[in-house]
Amino acid sequence: MSASPTILVFDSGLGGLTVLREIVKVRPDARIVYVADDAFFPYGQRSEAAVIGRVVPLIGELIAAHAPDLVVIACNTASTMALAPLRARYKVPFVGTVPAIKPACAASRTKRVSVLGTSATVRLEYTRALIRDFAQACKVTLVGSAHLAALAEAALGGATVSDAQILAEIAPCFVEDGSVRTDSVVLACTHYPLLRDRLVALAPWPVDWIDPAPAIARRVANLLGGASTPAGQSRDAQLIFTSGRPHPMSGAVMPYFGGPIAA
Ligand code: DGL
Repeated sequence: MSASPTILVFDSGLGGLTVLREIVKVRPDARIVYVADDAFFPYGQRSEAAVIGRVVPLIGELIAAHAPDLVVIACNTASTMALAPLRARYKVPFVGTVPAIKPACAASRTKRVSVLGTSATVRLEYTRALIRDFAQACKVTLVGSAHLAALAEAALGGATVSDAQILAEIAPCFVEDGSVRTDSVVLACTHYPLLRDRLVALAPWPVDWIDPAPAIARRVANLLGGASTPAGQSRDAQLIFTSGRPHPMSGAVMPYFGGPIAA
Protein backbone atom coordinates (compact mmCIF):
# COMPACT_ATOMS: atom_id res chain seq x y z
CA MET A 1 0.00 0.00 0.00
CA SER A 2 1.23 3.47 -0.87
CA ALA A 3 2.15 6.02 1.78
CA SER A 4 -0.66 8.05 3.35
CA PRO A 5 -3.71 6.06 2.36
CA THR A 6 -7.19 7.56 2.42
CA ILE A 7 -9.47 5.88 4.95
CA LEU A 8 -13.21 6.50 4.84
CA VAL A 9 -14.74 6.03 8.30
CA PHE A 10 -18.53 5.79 8.28
CA ASP A 11 -21.13 5.79 11.06
CA SER A 12 -24.72 6.87 11.55
CA GLY A 13 -23.37 9.65 13.76
CA LEU A 14 -20.36 10.45 15.91
CA GLY A 15 -20.00 7.04 17.57
CA GLY A 16 -17.50 5.98 14.93
CA LEU A 17 -15.10 8.51 16.43
CA THR A 18 -14.33 5.87 19.07
CA VAL A 19 -13.09 3.61 16.28
CA LEU A 20 -11.32 6.46 14.50
CA ARG A 21 -9.40 7.23 17.73
CA GLU A 22 -7.76 3.79 17.51
CA ILE A 23 -7.23 3.90 13.72
CA VAL A 24 -5.25 7.14 13.90
CA LYS A 25 -2.91 5.49 16.42
CA VAL A 26 -1.95 2.78 13.94
CA ARG A 27 -1.96 5.01 10.82
CA PRO A 28 -1.17 8.52 12.05
CA ASP A 29 -0.25 9.47 8.48
CA ALA A 30 -3.59 8.50 6.88
CA ARG A 31 -5.91 10.98 5.24
CA ILE A 32 -9.25 10.59 7.01
CA VAL A 33 -12.72 11.21 5.63
CA TYR A 34 -15.21 10.74 8.48
CA VAL A 35 -18.84 10.63 7.41
CA ALA A 36 -21.70 10.84 9.93
CA ASP A 37 -25.04 9.94 8.37
CA ASP A 38 -26.90 12.20 10.76
CA ALA A 39 -29.67 12.75 8.21
CA PHE A 40 -30.72 9.10 8.80
CA PHE A 41 -29.76 8.76 12.51
CA PRO A 42 -30.57 6.66 14.51
CA TYR A 43 -30.00 3.48 12.52
CA GLY A 44 -30.90 1.47 15.61
CA GLN A 45 -34.58 2.23 15.12
CA ARG A 46 -34.62 1.33 11.40
CA SER A 47 -35.40 -1.89 9.60
CA GLU A 48 -32.68 -3.94 7.92
CA ALA A 49 -34.14 -3.18 4.47
CA ALA A 50 -34.16 0.55 5.21
CA VAL A 51 -30.52 0.57 6.37
CA ILE A 52 -29.32 -1.49 3.39
CA GLY A 53 -31.32 0.75 1.03
CA ARG A 54 -29.71 3.81 2.57
CA VAL A 55 -26.12 2.68 3.14
CA VAL A 56 -25.28 0.78 -0.05
CA PRO A 57 -25.91 3.66 -2.51
CA LEU A 58 -24.54 6.26 -0.07
CA ILE A 59 -21.24 4.40 0.32
CA GLY A 60 -21.09 4.14 -3.49
CA GLU A 61 -21.35 7.93 -3.75
CA LEU A 62 -18.70 8.38 -1.06
CA ILE A 63 -16.31 5.98 -2.78
CA ALA A 64 -16.77 7.88 -6.06
CA ALA A 65 -16.21 11.23 -4.33
CA HIS A 66 -13.22 10.35 -2.10
CA ALA A 67 -11.52 7.31 -3.71
CA PRO A 68 -10.67 5.69 -0.36
CA ASP A 69 -8.10 2.88 -0.11
CA LEU A 70 -10.20 1.31 2.65
CA VAL A 71 -13.66 1.83 4.12
CA VAL A 72 -14.33 1.25 7.82
CA ILE A 73 -17.99 0.82 8.69
CA ALA A 74 -17.61 2.09 12.25
CA CYS A 75 -21.15 1.18 13.22
CA ASN A 76 -22.41 -2.18 14.49
CA THR A 77 -25.93 -1.61 13.20
CA ALA A 78 -24.77 -0.75 9.67
CA SER A 79 -22.14 -3.52 9.64
CA THR A 80 -24.41 -6.32 10.82
CA MET A 81 -27.04 -5.28 8.27
CA ALA A 82 -25.12 -4.02 5.25
CA LEU A 83 -21.55 -5.35 5.25
CA ALA A 84 -22.33 -8.36 3.04
CA PRO A 85 -24.16 -6.32 0.35
CA LEU A 86 -21.43 -3.66 0.46
CA ARG A 87 -18.69 -6.24 -0.12
CA ALA A 88 -20.70 -7.80 -2.91
CA ARG A 89 -21.18 -4.44 -4.63
CA TYR A 90 -17.83 -2.59 -4.30
CA LYS A 91 -14.21 -3.67 -4.81
CA VAL A 92 -12.62 -1.48 -2.14
CA PRO A 93 -11.72 -3.40 1.06
CA PHE A 94 -14.18 -3.00 3.94
CA VAL A 95 -13.55 -3.41 7.64
CA GLY A 96 -16.72 -3.80 9.69
CA THR A 97 -17.61 -3.45 13.35
CA VAL A 98 -19.58 -6.37 14.75
CA PRO A 99 -20.43 -7.29 18.35
CA ALA A 100 -17.30 -8.63 20.08
CA ILE A 101 -19.11 -11.69 21.43
CA LYS A 102 -16.33 -14.17 20.71
CA PRO A 103 -13.53 -12.46 22.72
CA ALA A 104 -15.92 -11.50 25.51
CA CYS A 105 -17.15 -15.06 25.98
CA ALA A 106 -13.64 -16.46 25.73
CA ALA A 107 -12.45 -14.15 28.52
CA SER A 108 -15.47 -14.25 30.85
CA ARG A 109 -14.71 -15.94 34.16
CA THR A 110 -18.30 -16.13 35.45
CA LYS A 111 -19.60 -17.22 32.03
CA ARG A 112 -22.21 -14.47 32.17
CA VAL A 113 -21.87 -11.94 29.35
CA SER A 114 -24.22 -9.14 28.29
CA VAL A 115 -24.33 -7.59 24.83
CA LEU A 116 -25.42 -3.94 24.87
CA GLY A 117 -26.37 -2.70 21.40
CA THR A 118 -29.05 -0.83 19.54
CA SER A 119 -32.49 -2.41 19.40
CA ALA A 120 -31.81 -3.31 15.76
CA THR A 121 -28.42 -4.94 16.37
CA VAL A 122 -29.61 -7.20 19.17
CA ARG A 123 -32.69 -8.23 17.18
CA LEU A 124 -30.70 -9.33 14.15
CA GLU A 125 -30.08 -12.92 13.15
CA TYR A 126 -26.42 -11.94 12.52
CA THR A 127 -25.95 -11.23 16.24
CA ARG A 128 -27.86 -14.32 17.32
CA ALA A 129 -25.65 -16.44 15.05
CA LEU A 130 -22.54 -14.99 16.72
CA ILE A 131 -23.95 -16.14 20.06
CA ARG A 132 -24.73 -19.63 18.73
CA ASP A 133 -21.25 -19.93 17.24
CA PHE A 134 -19.11 -18.32 19.94
CA ALA A 135 -20.89 -18.22 23.30
CA GLN A 136 -19.29 -21.54 24.28
CA ALA A 137 -20.40 -22.21 27.87
CA CYS A 138 -21.54 -18.60 28.47
CA LYS A 139 -25.05 -17.41 29.14
CA VAL A 140 -25.47 -14.32 26.98
CA THR A 141 -28.01 -11.60 27.76
CA LEU A 142 -28.98 -9.36 24.84
CA VAL A 143 -29.84 -5.79 25.83
CA GLY A 144 -31.28 -3.50 23.18
CA SER A 145 -30.95 0.15 24.13
CA ALA A 146 -33.36 2.59 22.56
CA HIS A 147 -31.71 5.81 23.74
CA LEU A 148 -28.04 5.34 24.68
CA ALA A 149 -26.59 6.29 21.27
CA ALA A 150 -28.54 9.55 21.22
CA LEU A 151 -27.56 10.24 24.83
CA ALA A 152 -23.89 9.73 23.91
CA GLU A 153 -24.20 12.19 21.00
CA ALA A 154 -25.89 14.69 23.28
CA ALA A 155 -23.18 14.37 25.93
CA LEU A 156 -20.44 14.79 23.31
CA GLY A 157 -22.20 17.95 22.14
CA GLY A 158 -22.06 19.35 25.68
CA ALA A 159 -25.67 18.64 26.75
CA THR A 160 -26.43 17.46 30.26
CA VAL A 161 -27.24 13.76 30.42
CA SER A 162 -28.27 12.54 33.85
CA ASP A 163 -26.96 9.44 35.61
CA ALA A 164 -30.55 8.15 35.82
CA GLN A 165 -30.94 8.33 32.02
CA ILE A 166 -27.77 6.30 31.47
CA LEU A 167 -28.48 3.83 34.26
CA ALA A 168 -31.95 3.07 32.88
CA GLU A 169 -30.31 1.94 29.60
CA ILE A 170 -27.52 -0.19 31.10
CA ALA A 171 -29.24 -1.72 34.16
CA PRO A 172 -30.57 -4.83 32.30
CA CYS A 173 -26.95 -5.79 31.50
CA PHE A 174 -26.30 -6.59 35.16
CA VAL A 175 -27.67 -10.05 35.81
CA GLU A 176 -27.38 -11.97 39.08
CA ASP A 177 -27.88 -15.69 38.72
CA GLY A 178 -27.72 -17.07 42.24
CA SER A 179 -24.23 -16.18 43.41
CA VAL A 180 -22.99 -15.69 39.82
CA ARG A 181 -22.94 -12.26 38.17
CA THR A 182 -22.31 -10.78 34.76
CA ASP A 183 -18.60 -9.97 34.48
CA SER A 184 -18.38 -8.68 30.87
CA VAL A 185 -20.47 -6.25 28.84
CA VAL A 186 -19.91 -6.07 25.09
CA LEU A 187 -20.21 -2.50 23.82
CA ALA A 188 -21.99 -3.43 20.60
CA CYS A 189 -22.58 0.14 19.44
CA THR A 190 -19.73 2.49 18.65
CA HIS A 191 -21.45 5.36 20.44
CA TYR A 192 -21.25 3.73 23.85
CA PRO A 193 -17.48 4.07 24.45
CA LEU A 194 -18.06 7.84 24.22
CA LEU A 195 -19.68 7.40 27.67
CA ARG A 196 -17.16 4.88 28.99
CA ASP A 197 -16.15 6.78 32.16
CA ARG A 198 -19.78 7.19 33.13
CA LEU A 199 -20.60 3.57 32.38
CA VAL A 200 -17.76 2.48 34.65
CA ALA A 201 -18.88 4.86 37.40
CA LEU A 202 -22.56 3.87 37.20
CA ALA A 203 -22.11 0.10 36.96
CA PRO A 204 -23.74 -1.68 39.95
CA TRP A 205 -20.56 -3.78 40.15
CA PRO A 206 -17.29 -3.73 38.19
CA VAL A 207 -17.34 -5.50 34.82
CA ASP A 208 -15.07 -5.64 31.77
CA TRP A 209 -16.46 -3.31 29.10
CA ILE A 210 -15.49 -4.89 25.77
CA ASP A 211 -14.77 -2.30 23.07
CA PRO A 212 -13.74 -3.76 19.69
CA ALA A 213 -12.09 -0.56 18.43
CA PRO A 214 -8.44 -1.61 19.05
CA ALA A 215 -9.06 -4.90 17.20
CA ILE A 216 -10.62 -2.99 14.29
CA ALA A 217 -7.59 -0.73 14.13
CA ARG A 218 -5.28 -3.76 14.07
CA ARG A 219 -7.27 -5.14 11.13
CA VAL A 220 -6.90 -1.80 9.33
CA ALA A 221 -3.14 -1.88 9.93
CA ASN A 222 -2.96 -5.45 8.63
CA LEU A 223 -4.74 -4.52 5.42
CA LEU A 224 -2.91 -1.25 4.80
CA GLY A 225 0.43 -2.03 6.38
CA GLY A 226 2.06 0.11 9.05
CA ALA A 227 2.63 3.86 8.67
CA SER A 228 5.49 4.54 6.32
CA THR A 229 5.84 8.20 7.18
CA PRO A 230 5.55 9.85 10.57
CA ALA A 231 2.49 11.96 11.32
CA GLY A 232 2.80 15.56 10.19
CA GLN A 233 2.06 18.66 12.23
CA SER A 234 -1.61 18.50 11.37
CA ARG A 235 -3.80 15.81 9.89
CA ASP A 236 -5.48 15.87 6.50
CA ALA A 237 -9.04 15.06 7.58
CA GLN A 238 -12.62 15.92 6.84
CA LEU A 239 -15.75 15.54 8.95
CA ILE A 240 -18.88 15.37 6.81
CA PHE A 241 -22.48 15.32 8.03
CA THR A 242 -24.94 14.01 5.45
CA SER A 243 -27.47 16.60 6.66
CA GLY A 244 -25.04 19.25 5.45
CA ARG A 245 -25.10 20.97 8.82
CA PRO A 246 -22.13 23.20 9.55
CA HIS A 247 -19.47 21.50 11.62
CA PRO A 248 -16.68 23.45 13.13
CA MET A 249 -14.03 20.95 14.28
CA SER A 250 -14.88 21.46 17.91
CA GLY A 251 -12.56 20.76 20.81
CA ALA A 252 -14.79 17.82 21.71
CA VAL A 253 -14.30 16.11 18.35
CA MET A 254 -10.67 16.99 17.54
CA PRO A 255 -8.99 14.56 19.97
CA TYR A 256 -10.60 11.60 18.20
CA PHE A 257 -8.76 12.62 15.03
CA GLY A 258 -5.49 12.42 16.94
CA GLY A 259 -4.72 16.12 16.88
CA PRO A 260 -5.16 19.29 14.89
CA ILE A 261 -6.81 19.10 11.48
CA ALA A 262 -5.40 20.91 8.46
CA ALA A 263 -7.82 23.66 7.37
N1 DGL B 1 -23.19 3.73 16.19
C1 DGL B 1 -24.20 2.80 15.81
C2 DGL B 1 -23.77 1.37 16.14
O1 DGL B 1 -22.59 1.10 16.34
C3 DGL B 1 -25.62 3.00 16.26
C4 DGL B 1 -26.26 4.31 16.49
C5 DGL B 1 -27.62 4.44 15.81
O2 DGL B 1 -28.63 3.98 16.34
O3 DGL B 1 -27.61 5.03 14.71
O4 DGL B 1 -24.59 0.49 16.16
